[in-house]
Amino acid sequence: MRVEIPLYTERFGSVRIHDVQRILELDSGRRRDDEKEITTIHKIEKNEIEDVEDKLAIVVPVKEEKLKLLEGVLSGIPHDCVVIVVSNSQTNPINRFKMEVDTLARFHRFTRRKMLVIHQKDPGLALAFQENKYTGILDKKEKLVRDGKAEAMVVGILLAKMVGKEFVGFVDADNYIPGAVNEYVKNFAAGFCMAESSYVMVRNSWKYKPKIYNTGIYFKKWGRISEVTNRYLNLIISNYIGFETEIIKTANSGEHALTLKLAEILKYSSGFSVEPYELLYILEEFGGIKPTSYPEVIENGVEIFQIETRNPHFHEDKGEDHLKKMLLESLSVVYYSELCNQTIKTLILNELVSQDILKKDTFPPQLPAMPPLRSINIQNFNEKLKEAKTFTMFE
Ligand code: GDP
Ligand code: CO
Repeated sequence: MRVEIPLYTERFGSVRIHDVQRILELDSGRRRDDEKEITTIHKIEKNEIEDVEDKLAIVVPVKEEKLKLLEGVLSGIPHDCVVIVVSNSQTNPINRFKMEVDTLARFHRFTRRKMLVIHQKDPGLALAFQENKYTGILDKKEKLVRDGKAEAMVVGILLAKMVGKEFVGFVDADNYIPGAVNEYVKNFAAGFCMAESSYVMVRNSWKYKPKIYNTGIYFKKWGRISEVTNRYLNLIISNYIGFETEIIKTANSGEHALTLKLAEILKYSSGFSVEPYELLYILEEFGGIKPTSYPEVIENGVEIFQIETRNPHFHEDKGEDHLKKMLLESLSVVYYSELCNQTIKTLILNELVSQDILKKDTFPPQLPAMPPLRSINIQNFNEKLKEAKTFTMFE
C-alpha cells in the first residue's frame, strides 16, 4: 500500500493527532531492490500488513442486519484476522441470532477461518462481568449487558484479549461492499505499521458517503452527523491550544482500530456516543490537563491516525430518527466533557434545539460510561465464559 505521510500533526499534551492521510495505491506491488524512496510517501509492504493481520481481531457488532450483508462483511475481512461477532439480534419469537451463527458455521465450513460469536444478552456473559466486578456494562434492571453498540465493542475487546491479540478493529455488519471492508482492515494495519507509539488508534475517514437520489448518485463528502461532531471536538481543541484547528475529521468513525494496550485503558461511553468519546477521553486523560493514572502512556505518547479510504462507504440507511439519536448522543458526551466550557455548552444546546433534537431549556441525557477493562482478570473471565458455554468458537 502507498500512503501519504501525515502532512500535519496536532499535539495536545502527549497526544499526537495526525491529519488525514490519503492512499495513493491500495496495492503497491512487489518489493524491488532498486526502488527509490519517496520521502513524502510511505510504502507499506504486503508482508508488514500481513504480520499485523495475524495479530488483529476484527469485531463485528450486529443487530438485526440482513444475513447477506453480514456474510459479505465476513468475506471481506482478511483470512488471518480472527473475527469476533457480537450480536444483539432477537432470539425470540424468531431466532435471528441462530441464523447468524448458522451463517458463520456455513462460512467456516468452506473457509476454515477462525471466528468467535457471542450474544450480548447471554446470562453467562453478564455473570462473568459480575464476578469481575465490572458492573458498569450491566443494565440495572435486567442484570444483563445493556443494549448498545459500545457495549458490544467492549465485549469484543475482551474476547480479542482472551484470544491473545495485540490489535482490535471494528467493522459494522451493515456494509454493502465487501471490497471496502477489506480496505478498511488493510488501512488499520497500515496505521499500526506507521505508528511509533504502542498506544495507537487508527480511524477511517470516508472519502465519500454516497447518497442515491432520483436524479442519480451523488458522492457526498461528509456524513451529516460527523460534520457537526467534528466541529465541536475541534472547538474544544482550538479553545485549549489557542489556535483554531480542523484536525478532527473522524469523530463518528465506526470503522476504527486500537492497539489492545490502548483499548484496555480507555473508558467507553454507551451506545452511539462511543466513537467521539474515545477521542475526548484520550484528550482528557493524556492531554496534560490533569495528572494521569498512566505515566507510561504519557512517556510513550498516544498516536491517532486518520486514513482516508479509497472505497466509498455504503451502508444501510437507518432513517432520520437514527441520525438524530446519534447526534444527540455524540454531542451529549462533548457537552459533559470536563474539557467543554460554558460557551461551547451553549453552542451545543443551540445546535440541538435548532435541529429539533432537544427542547428549549432542557439538557442532553448523561450517558453511562464503562470503566477501563484492565481491571478484569482475563483468565477468570475466560473460564467463566467457557463454563457457561457462552460463545461459539470456529477454528
Ligand atoms: P451507523 O452505521 O453508525 O449509522 O450505525 P448502525 O445502526 O449501522 O450501527 C453500526 C453497527 O452496530 C451495525 O453493524 C449494527 O448492526 C450494530 N449495532 C447497533 N446497535 C447494536 C447493539 O445494541 N448491539 C450490537 N451487538 N450491535 C449493534
Ligand atoms: Co451503519
